[in-house]
Amino acid sequence: MGIGKPFARKEKPVLALDIGSNTVKVMRLQDRSGSLVLKAVGLKELPPEAIIAREIQDRETVIFAIQGLVEESDPKAREVAISVSGSSVITDELVMDRKSGPEAEQAILFEAEQRSPFDVEDVTLDYHIINVDQETEKMQVLLVAVRNQFLQSQLDVVSDAGLEPVLVDADSLAILNCYELNYEIDPTKVIALVNLGFDITNVTFIKDGLYHSTRDLVGGARSIYEALRGDFQLSSEKALEVLRGGVEGNLEPDTYKATLGGAAEEICKNLDMALFYFKNSTKLEDIDQIMLSGGGALIQFLPELLQTKLSVPIETMNPLRNIECDRALFPDLDLEKIAPALALVVGLASRRIK
Ligand SMILES: Nc1ncnc2c1ncn2[C@@H]1O[C@H](COP(=O)(O)OP(=O)(O)OP(=O)(O)O)[C@@H](O)[C@H]1O
Ligand SMILES: [Mg+2]
Repeated sequence: MGIGKPFARKEKPVLALDIGSNTVKVMRLQDRSGSLVLKAVGLKELPPEAIIAREIQDRETVIFAIQGLVEESDPKAREVAISVSGSSVITDELVMDRKSGPEAEQAILFEAEQRSPFDVEDVTLDYHIINVDQETEKMQVLLVAVRNQFLQSQLDVVSDAGLEPVLVDADSLAILNCYELNYEIDPTKVIALVNLGFDITNVTFIKDGLYHSTRDLVGGARSIYEALRGDFQLSSEKALEVLRGGVEGNLEPDTYKATLGGAAEEICKNLDMALFYFKNSTKLEDIDQIMLSGGGALIQFLPELLQTKLSVPIETMNPLRNIECDRALFPDLDLEKIAPALALVVGLASRRIK
C-alpha cells in the first residue's frame, strides 16, 4: 500500500472511493495548471447494517452501491484509491536516526515489527516519513499496520465492483491532505482535525505547522441514529432523514437536543480524552482550534454541543475551499452544504498515481 505520496503534478488521476459506514463517496479531481478542478463527485447512503465500524457485513449491498455510484458519477473510472481505518488499522509515530533510501525502509520496517501490536504475519505495514529534523538528524515516521484480512475484504469489494484498487491510504492522512490543500497552516497554532463519521472519529493533531499524531476513536453519529430510533420510535429511514435534514417538520427542537446530548456523551468523552492525552504528552495547556469535518459536522446542533462540552473553539472545515467547482455540473448536490462530509474523499482524490 502506498501512503503519504503528496499531490504531485503530471500523474494519472484516480477516482477516490471512501467506503464509509454510512455513506459511500466518490470524487475525481483534475489538476488544471496548478489548481484543482472537481470533475466527478457522488454520495450514496447505505443501510446502517451494511458496514459496521468499517467492517463490511453485507458485501452484495456494498458492491451494488459502489457500482451504482461509479456508474452515475464517473462511469469510465477504473483505478481507484481507497482509505482505511477502524480497529483493524493501527497507526503509531516514532522518531529515529535519519536514513534514506533502502536503508531507511529497512530500519523503519524493523522498528515497526518490534512495535506493531498485531502479529507481523497478519498485517500489511507501511510508513510515511513526516518530517526530518536537519539539526538533530532525526526523522519522524508514521507507521501504519493494517490487518491483512480486513485489507483484503476492502480490496475484494472494490475488485468485485469491477474496479482496480491502486492506492490505499489511512483516513487520518487523507484528512490531513485535505486540510493542507485548503488552508494555510499556522505554525503558531495547535489544531485538532476531527473527522466525525458514522462509526469512526479520526483525530489528527497539528503542532508547529506539522502533523503530530493521530488517533481513531470508535464512535460517531450511529449513537445519535440509535437514540433517535429509541427515544422517538422512528423508523430507520426517518431517523436517517432527521440526521441528514434536521428536525424541522419532524421533531420538537428541545426534545431532540436532549436526545442529542445523551447520545453524543460517549463521543464527547472519547474526544476529551484524546485531547487530554495529546496535551499531556506535549505538555501543552490548550488546543487552539478543532477543525471539524465528516457527516457529523452537518448534524443539527452537534458542532455547538461539541464546542460547549470540549471548551475548544470549533470551525467547520470546508474541503472544497480551494477546489474549483462548476456547480452547474452537479445539479443534484448542494455542494456548499455537504462539503464537510467530503473531507476524506477530497484528501484521497488529491493524490496522483505514478
Ligand atoms: N447532507 C448530508 N449528507 C450526508 N450525510 C449527512 C448529511 N447531513 C448529515 N449527515 C450525517 O453524516 C453522518 C455520516 O457521516 P460520514 O459520511 O462522515 O460517515 P461515514 O464516512 O459513512 O462513516 P465512517 O467514516 O464512520 O465509517 C450520517 O449520520 C448522516 O446522517
Ligand atoms: Mg468516513
